[in-house]
Amino acid sequence: MSEPLILAIESSCDDTSAAVISGNKILSNIAATQSIHNEYGGVVPELASRAHQQNIIPVVAKALTLANIQQNDLQAIGFTRGPGLLGSLLVGTSFAKSLSMALDIPMIEVNHLQAHILAHFIDDANPKPPRFPFLCLTVSGGHTLIVLVRDFFDMEIIGKTTDDAAGEAFDKIGKIFGLDYPAGPIIDKLAQSGNPGRFRFNKPKIDGYDYSFSGIKTSVLYFIQKELKKNDAFIAENLADLCASVQEDIVDILLDKLMQAATDLGISEIAIAGGVSANSALRAALKKIGDEKNWNIYIPKFEYTTDNAAMIAMVARLKFDRGEFADLSVSATARYDLTEELGG
Ligand code: KG4
Ligand code: ZN
Repeated sequence: MSEPLILAIESSCDDTSAAVISGNKILSNIAATQSIHNEYGGVVPELASRAHQQNIIPVVAKALTLANIQQNDLQAIGFTRGPGLLGSLLVGTSFAKSLSMALDIPMIEVNHLQAHILAHFIDDANPKPPRFPFLCLTVSGGHTLIVLVRDFFDMEIIGKTTDDAAGEAFDKIGKIFGLDYPAGPIIDKLAQSGNPGRFRFNKPKIDGYDYSFSGIKTSVLYFIQKELKKNDAFIAENLADLCASVQEDIVDILLDKLMQAATDLGISEIAIAGGVSANSALRAALKKIGDEKNWNIYIPKFEYTTDNAAMIAMVARLKFDRGEFADLSVSATARYDLTEELGG
């Protein structure tokens, strides 16, 4: 029998994305990024839901065209149920319900965080997928987690941030430097011509595998305020070094705990996922550790790191095989824990 064709929708934050999957193979993966938030320094929820409303139909149409299929070829529709911004999630959820009714095909709810992790199983995400059990550092604008992944739907959070997420730290520190939102990729780019050893900021002292990023943000803010009093061109004159230094500190903080967890648990299959896993310094540092320690490192293809519907499609496909379908009463869930509906 041929593989089912599944359409997936992702609308949890500020990207409207649609993808078509057949087996583990992505046939199309389209995203409309909302630039409207840049000038506000962060995502404005009301504007995000309105933009999703405008984007969703053309994005889905494009995903179907690129996959060279018609609506009627679809066997199921996957959608992000949460976590995320409620108004944004509602657009994707309602769209999925309408299409499911119109085409008389089942709907599959997907947890966005599980999807970031399971993106590693898309056929071209890695040369080979991770082996269970593996550790996955899941780092995005809203989450920073060390997840012990025992199986596709058997995951345990063993470390998390106690305040800001890693992506949030990049974005907020970027804002202090006067950079647009999201600042993570801009810092990454500027850091490439900077000296990472030039400045050092406060690292958190926190036990176990948990993280904290509010200290480094405050440390950068006070330092910049002090320097600007002496020289009002301080940021402009030192931007690349500032970005490289901050980036190195954040990467160190992330990898210290991940290495500690891997060593304690005796796990040598190590993956990263989420928007911040696009960061070039994080990717390079993790590869180096892998070579030194003889660990298998899994770094997903760039397009499967930041929010995308391909990862939602991957989870929808796994659930399709298990016959796990949502009923029409399903609702978007803004706070949706990674482990909430697992194990079934
Ligand atoms: O996973 P994602 O696209 O959305 C959420 O689920 O939050 O992650 C977005 C976050 C933003 O904070 C963004 O600044 C960060 O990922 N990010 C990066 C890079 N690319 C995206 N941070 C550092 N370096 C990057 N290259
Ligand atoms: Zn995400």
